Amino acid sequence: MRAVRTVTGPRWTVVRMPRPVPAPEEVLVRVRAAGLNRADVLMRDDTYVPDDAGWSVATDRVGFEFSGEVVESTGEWSAGDAVLGQAGGTCAEFVTVDHRLLLRRPAGWSWTEAAAAPSALLTEYDALMHVGGFRPGETVLVTGATSAVGLVAVGLASYLGAGRVVGTTRRRERAASVLAAGADDVLVGPPLRAEYTGTGFDVVLDHVGGATLTAVIPLVRPGGRVVQIGRLGGGTALLDLEILARHRLSLIGTTFRGRRLPELANLIDALRPHLSEFPRRPLIDSVFSLEEIEDAYERLASPELFGKVVITVDH
Ligand SMILES: NC(=O)c1ccc[n+]([C@@H]2O[C@H](COP(=O)([O-])OP(=O)(O)OC[C@H]3O[C@@H](n4cnc5c(N)ncnc54)[C@H](OP(=O)(O)O)[C@@H]3O)[C@@H](O)[C@H]2O)c1
Repeated sequence: MRAVRTVTGPRWTVVRMPRPVPAPEEVLVRVRAAGLNRADVLMRDDTYVPDDAGWSVATDRVGFEFSGEVVESTGEWSAGDAVLGQAGGTCAEFVTVDHRLLLRRPAGWSWTEAAAAPSALLTEYDALMHVGGFRPGETVLVTGATSAVGLVAVGLASYLGAGRVVGTTRRRERAASVLAAGADDVLVGPPLRAEYTGTGFDVVLDHVGGATLTAVIPLVRPGGRVVQIGRLGGGTALLDLEILARHRLSLIGTTFRGRRLPELANLIDALRPHLSEFPRRPLIDSVFSLEEIEDAYERLASPELFGKVVITVDH
């Protein structure tokens, strides 16, 4: 089969390799599209720290998420089922994945939309519901709301019954997209306007870190939870520990690295009933073929990126 590999350079190149053979609990999927992520860029730049995750990650392969058709089935799946999910090396004609980690493609979604969804949906659902302990009616602040994961976070919080959802962006011209994703209000900054100080948010989903994390701590209400997901704005932050203590805030980091298969399977089971109901499809920035993978990388690294970069795979 054709698959994308990182070769010395470091360049992403389409190579030929044997089609994977599914293990007893695995399904063989014919990939139709694969979503690209920051982690692919980090791997290419050798700054990704892989570990023994619940799903296999080959550091010289590209792609963490996919949509496609079941070819060889096991468990609840049948040949021909349209599915999506996470796996290692999804920029390829075929992937194998444990049957418990697959989701059914929602009716009406294209292969491209389905491939853009798994990573962001699982990350944000887990961050909001499990890590952040969100309850319907609570207020949610999403930093970096125009990032691919941020837009999904805004939509999920709104869909799951948040009392108020607010997103941050540095660019006023992108505020309308954050509102369209489901937000009630947008904070443009830095500096972030301070009108939420005192009233505060119950949950913050932070994708930016750095000075943005510093700025949001005073905006969290007593007993609130700050979930640290991404560090687009920097991996270190000054924190007002006086506020943290006085307001009894929880600051919790999260990542999928190191998660084991049973935990991922439970998370996917929890998300499963929501996927067909979730009203918002992922925002697609651009679509490339497998052979255009280097162009896709350029786009992924562009500051103008807005939404997901997706690779389509023809057979
Ligand atoms: N993709 C995933 O599934 C996933 C999973 C777990 C964690 N993460 C992490 O979540 C973060 C977002 O990932 P993504 O792939 O969704 O990102 P993305 O789409 O590439 O994010 C681009 C957005 O990030 C904002 N941004 C970029 N640099 C910034 C900075 N220095 N300060 C503030 N905002 C900045 C920009 O928003 P404005 O210009 O509008 O301000 C831009 O629209 C990353 O740190 C990633 O590692 C992603």
